[in-house]
Amino acid sequence: MSEIQTKDLEGQVALVTGATSGIGRAVAFQLAAQGATVVVHGRDVDRATQVLEEIELSGGQARFVATDISTTDGVRKLVDEAGDIDILVNNAGVAWFGPSVDLDADGFDALFDSNVRAPYLLVAAFAPAMVAKGNGSIISISSMAGLVGLAGGAAYGATKISLVGLTRAWAAEYSPSGVRVNTIASGPVYTASDPARTKATGDTTLLGRAAQPEEIANVVGFIASPRASYVTGAVIPVDGGRTAI
Ligand SMILES: NC(=O)c1ccc[n+]([C@@H]2O[C@H](COP(=O)([O-])OP(=O)(O)OC[C@H]3O[C@@H](n4cnc5c(N)ncnc54)[C@H](OP(=O)(O)O)[C@@H]3O)[C@@H](O)[C@H]2O)c1
Repeated sequence: MSEIQTKDLEGQVALVTGATSGIGRAVAFQLAAQGATVVVHGRDVDRATQVLEEIELSGGQARFVATDISTTDGVRKLVDEAGDIDILVNNAGVAWFGPSVDLDADGFDALFDSNVRAPYLLVAAFAPAMVAKGNGSIISISSMAGLVGLAGGAAYGATKISLVGLTRAWAAEYSPSGVRVNTIASGPVYTASDPARTKATGDTTLLGRAAQPEEIANVVGFIASPRASYVTGAVIPVDGGRTAI
C-alpha cells in the first residue's frame, strides 16, 4: 500500500468480489488504505489469508467470505455473510479468448454466470439498503474488450459490454436516491491471465504497455470516494488510451 492516503472511506464497509488475486486484490488494498473495512471475497483460502494479513499489517481492517458466485446459492451466501455494505466492487470475473466455434454453450453460460449474472444479483440484493441510507457506491470492472472488437473475445466482450448497460440502467434506477453506479473499462493488466497476450494488447495502447493492477485500483479508490460525488452512470476507460484510437 502507498504511504500517503486520504482516509476518505473511514467508517465504510466495502465488498470487493474476486479480491484474492489481480485487480481485486489491489482494489482491496487501496480501499483498506483509504480507511474502509474490506470484505475480501473469492474462493482461494490461502491467497485470501495473504490478502487479509497484508491489509492488517498495514493497519487496515478486512475479513474474508468464500463463495462461488457463479451459482445462485453462492451469491446468496455472499449477501448473507457480507452484511451491510456501503461500497460494492463487482470485480470477480473470468476471461476466455479463442475462436467462437471453440466455446460451447456451457462455456458461454459460465462466462455470463460469473461476469453478468452474479453482479446483477449482487446489485439487486445490496442496492435497496444503500437507497434506504441515501448513500452508496457501486463500481463494476468492465473491459475495453467490451468496447472494441477483439478477435477471440466475442463472448467475453459481450459479458463486459453487458456491465455497461447494467451500469447505466442502475444509475437511472438508484442514483436519484443517492447511490452512485459506475463502470471502469480496464485495458490489459498484468494479473493471472496469459502475460504474452497482456503484453501484446498493451503494446497496442497509446502508452505502449499493459497496466499494473494498482493503476486500476487507484481509479476505483477515487470513484468509491466522496471526491467523486458527482460521478454516476459513467463508463471510465482506464486503458492507456486504447479506446481513444
Ligand atoms: N487482467 C486484465 O487484463 C483485465 C482487463 C480488463 C478487465 N479485467 C476484469 O477485471 C476483473 C479481475 O480480473 P483479473 O485479471 O484481476 O483476474 P484474476 O487475477 O484471475 O482474479 C479473478 C478473481 O475473481 C475471483 N473469481 C473468479 N470467478 C469466481 C467465482 N465464480 N466465484 C468467486 N470468485 C471468483 C477469483 O477468486 P479465486 O481465485 O479465489 O476463486 C479471483 O479473486 C475481471 O472481471 C476481468 O474481466 C481484467
